[in-house]
Amino acid sequence: MKIAIFGTGYVGLVTGACLADVGHQVLCVDVDEKKIQNLKNGLIPIYEPGLEPIVKLNVEAGRLSFTTNAEEAVAFGDIQFIAVGTPPDEDGSADLQYVLTVARTIGRHMQDYKVVVDKSTVPVGTGDKVHAAISAELAGRGLSLEFDVVSNPEFLKEGDAVGDFMKPDRIVVGAQSERAVSLMREAYEPFNRNHDRMVVMDVRSAELTKYAANAMLATKISFMNEIANLSELLGADIEQVRKGIGSDPRIGYHFIYPGCGYGGSCFPKDVKALVRTAKDVAYDAKLLSSVESVNDSQKHVLFRKLSEHFNGKLAGRTFALWGLAFKPNTDDMREASSRVLMESLWAAGAKVQAFDPKAMEETQRIYSDKDELMLCGTKEQALKGADALIICTEWKEFRSPDFSYIVSALKEPVIFDGRNLYDPERVQRKGIQYYGIGRGL
Ligand code: UGA
Repeated sequence: MKIAIFGTGYVGLVTGACLADVGHQVLCVDVDEKKIQNLKNGLIPIYEPGLEPIVKLNVEAGRLSFTTNAEEAVAFGDIQFIAVGTPPDEDGSADLQYVLTVARTIGRHMQDYKVVVDKSTVPVGTGDKVHAAISAELAGRGLSLEFDVVSNPEFLKEGDAVGDFMKPDRIVVGAQSERAVSLMREAYEPFNRNHDRMVVMDVRSAELTKYAANAMLATKISFMNEIANLSELLGADIEQVRKGIGSDPRIGYHFIYPGCGYGGSCFPKDVKALVRTAKDVAYDAKLLSSVESVNDSQKHVLFRKLSEHFNGKLAGRTFALWGLAFKPNTDDMREASSRVLMESLWAAGAKVQAFDPKAMEETQRIYSDKDELMLCGTKEQALKGADALIICTEWKEFRSPDFSYIVSALKEPVIFDGRNLYDPERVQRKGIQYYGIGRGL
């Protein structure tokens, strides 16, 4: 099949590379000339495990190509995926200008039937807007060509996006015609062979499914963070509670890990956007608003613990920070808890010596003018002479550190563990004071 993909960001690039990898001809289009030139040369703009090799392989095999020429892309694809960004507006709603610009471009250039697929996370009702934008362009050209708008939300996790695409739990397709469903089946057939993972529904339900999935996961996390805060006050250990409830299959073990708050480009943005959408239809989404506010406070929990430990005297101190990315296996710093923590520490007059296995460049880019931040080449260097160690991201390499080195490198051996990586008793036996999340024992 011939497939065009608008947007070579995270979603567009993964989608394009994976569809090419199963044999489709894919043309990715972007307005960013430098990015397209880099991609043609095999340079990937993001860190995503497994992505680079499949991009290279499929470019070499001639199945995946890149262009800035939108007209060429419209002519090329039977299916046109829209995978451009939907950044939050000031009021939290998703900004649709890029999606609608692509829709108009498609309407301006199409010469025959197309399936236009919304892959970006878009508010309920966007399918209708995309339809209207294309129809208006066609009318301007005096044409009435047939086309379908489909909603096909992505459920990729950063750090595991290629795996998620190749082995999806479900492929949600919201469509209004059999013709569109059948083309979508053909596109996804290689991922659907052993059992049918396609869940076909109407366009609005598919759009809401995406938000509902992310909001549900965010709700689980905020719920656990609230129980963790209670655990602390009640003298219980959230890690034991987690195992106790996770064993009930109706609750499950996934996404019940307490921590220093969820971040990333999806949960914070999508929960906000859904609250906003609810407002638009005069519904007060109380639960979702609380999910957001619990998370906002959770991002301050480590700072509060530090302040209490040091009796509010943080000025002039230096803290070692392990983990900057919003989660492991990515260099993404969007809405990362580490940022809230660092900014609070700086405001209190403290310095930070930080290390992250992948997000150093990104941190440097964001905080290039911050003298109070020292980026260290190794996790050991970050410890030297610091007043305490703080952990914000659960990278594998932080799981079994040399505790005696930590004791010798820190001024005072104390760990503030925002991801509950360690067994408190074991750490304390090494002579280190330990603060986790929700560990009231
Ligand atoms: C999330 C969803 O998991 C994907 O299914 C979805 O496709 C994606 O958003 C999207 O909408 O594009 P992602 O943002 O990459 O994926 O990251 P997650 O692995 O879901 O983690 C999000 C945040 O929740 C991280 O900050 C993580 O540390 C935190 N988290 C996760 C917890 O605090 N506790 C948990 O138990 C799980």
